[in-house]
Amino acid sequence: MDLLSIIKGRRSIRSFQDKEIPEDHLLAILEAGIWAPSGSNIQPWEFILVNDSTLIKKIKLLSPGLYGVPKALIILCMNKKRTEKAGRLGPSLAVMDISMAAQNMMLMAYSLGIGSCPIVSFNKSGLRELLEIPEEVDPVLMISLGYPDEWPRAPEKRPLEEVVHVNAYGKNLRR
Ligand SMILES: Cc1cc2nc3c(=O)[nH]c(=O)nc-3n(C[C@H](O)[C@H](O)[C@H](O)COP(=O)(O)O)c2cc1C
Repeated sequence: MDLLSIIKGRRSIRSFQDKEIPEDHLLAILEAGIWAPSGSNIQPWEFILVNDSTLIKKIKLLSPGLYGVPKALIILCMNKKRTEKAGRLGPSLAVMDISMAAQNMMLMAYSLGIGSCPIVSFNKSGLRELLEIPEEVDPVLMISLGYPDEWPRAPEKRPLEEVVHVNAYGKNLRR
C-alpha cells in the first residue's frame, strides 16, 4: 500500500476479533512510535504496553472511551522530568510529540492489518494506581489494538478547498 492509502484507510476500530497479535508486530508498532519527530528532540514519551487480558479488563472498567475487547493497549505517557528540559513550552511540545508518536503507531498497526483506536476518555488516577505509574509520569493517551471485527465507513472530511488557505488566510484553495 502506498502511504496515502494507509493514511486514508486507517479507521478507529472499536470491535476486535479474539486473535492474538504476534509480539514482533507489537514491537514494530512501538518502534514506529519512537521514530516520531520530537520538539528539541526531548522524546518525552514513555509507552506502557499492556497485553495481559486480566489487566485489560480492569482498564476497561476505568475507561468509558474504550470500546470492544482489544488484545493489547499502549498507554502513551509524558515524562514530566524530560519535559522540563524544554522550559515553559515543554508540556505543549510533549503533547504534540506524543500525538505524532500515536499516529505513527496507528498507521504502522494498520499497515500490519491491526486495528487501533486512540482513547482519551479514561480515569487517570485509577490507571496510575493499577499500572504503578509514578508521579513524574502522566498518562496522556491510550491506543487499543486488535484485529478488526468491523470496518467502519470513513467519516466525512472537510474538503481541501475549505481548510487550505493559500498565501493568506481566507484565500481558499481553488481547483
Ligand atoms: C485525541 C483523540 C481522542 C480520542 N478519544 C477517543 C475515545 O476516548 N474513544 C473513542 O472511541 N474514540 C476516540 N477517538 C477517535 C475519534 O472518535 C475518531 O478518530 C474520529 O471519529 C474519526 O474517525 P477515524 O479515526 O476512523 O478517522 C479519539 C481521537 C482522537 C484524535
